[in-house]
Amino acid sequence: MPTPTLAVVNCSQLVTLAGARRPRCGAELRELAIIEDGAMLLSGDTIERVGTRAEIESMVGGGCEVVDAGGRVCLPGFVDAHTHPVFAGTRADEFERRAAGATYQEIAAAGGGIRATVRRTREATEDELVVASRRFREWFLRGGTTTVEAKSGYGLSVDDELKMLRAIGRLNDEGALRYVPTFLGAHDFPEEYRARREEYVALVVEEMLPRVVGEGLAEFCDVFCEARVFTVEESRRILAAARSRGLGLRVHADQLSLSGGALLAAELKTSTADHLEHTDAAGVAALKAADVQPVLLPGSVYALGSSRYPAAREMIGAGLAVVLATDFNPGSSPTPSMTMVLSLASTQMKMTPAEAITAATVNAAYSLGRGRELGSLEATKRADFVIHDCADYRDLAYFFGVEHALETYVGGRLAFSRRGATKTQHGV
Ligand code: NIG
Ligand code: FE
Repeated sequence: MPTPTLAVVNCSQLVTLAGARRPRCGAELRELAIIEDGAMLLSGDTIERVGTRAEIESMVGGGCEVVDAGGRVCLPGFVDAHTHPVFAGTRADEFERRAAGATYQEIAAAGGGIRATVRRTREATEDELVVASRRFREWFLRGGTTTVEAKSGYGLSVDDELKMLRAIGRLNDEGALRYVPTFLGAHDFPEEYRARREEYVALVVEEMLPRVVGEGLAEFCDVFCEARVFTVEESRRILAAARSRGLGLRVHADQLSLSGGALLAAELKTSTADHLEHTDAAGVAALKAADVQPVLLPGSVYALGSSRYPAAREMIGAGLAVVLATDFNPGSSPTPSMTMVLSLASTQMKMTPAEAITAATVNAAYSLGRGRELGSLEATKRADFVIHDCADYRDLAYFFGVEHALETYVGGRLAFSRRGATKTQHGV
């Protein structure tokens, strides 16, 4: 074993999520592989050993820094597998209009919604987008998130989509938070192409995709498959082209209506089908048969004032390897908080706190092709972990509206801390 550089000791629960090296389904979602009075040994950015405090403390030598968790829980960092974290401006004006009764679809049909953010994002420089997004990065880290999937989709022109993806690449290179980039040129039809849908689809397939792939700017391609946005046929064409260029696939499916998105995801065997608020039993069965992971986004249901949450229990019952994510974006889900998502998963979708944590960590990592490196606390994995200011992991979903993370580590390095800024019952 390489010389340990950092030991984390005195964890009331070290929630390891150790287990099969694949996404977890069915009863496995409840198995968190907790080590009571746990500890962990790192070397650089890698986990070397997990065990009880007694086991680990005997291996701590001189020169090894010791972090005392003070009797708190330690979890893998959350992996937020669906976010739109780069954009200019906000949509607080639309939020106010929705509070007065307007719907998300009415606002979009009148030229607001995604297209409002596209106008602002096109006006912004790459530097301005990076600066704006650093603020959101801070929010993710404060919430205990260490990896985000990050979509483009507010540029909708060749140059503006590339600008967004380059901004995401720069944020990733800065190192504090991990970003997995997704090309979402098919997020909406931009104003200038509204009467020329076919031409916009051709632009995405023939100009955007080759540039995105040629410059190595994305790992995944996503499409908003929905009534009045991209039809199943248009979505199929874009996703098939992306696959032929080597990108992984994700789909915004059945969010606002039963649009056929889940069936398309199953047909194409995409990595994920996301949203699924309107997916029926046939869609759930098709996702299972095709081994597609559902990414559930209860924050967007909540923020849109809807009560139609996706059928998480049916999906778990069908054996799907469910993922939870924030959908952080300026319109339908302005929250970066994975603990808020855990709360919604338990109260609105009847997932147990343990199921929700598995969906927000190891299953999310697998959905991004990072399951071998991220998502659990096991030897050889990257040391992305969070000490939360509670002694019982269930508190993360139970006490809501609270910032639980005390310290967030990415690759063994402290990326956020509020130790010292807080006095707690644990007194450390
Ligand atoms: O996942 N559904 C489409 N895209 C986002 C909303 C983006 C926006 O409103 O700006 C979503 O909910
Ligand atoms: Fe989304």
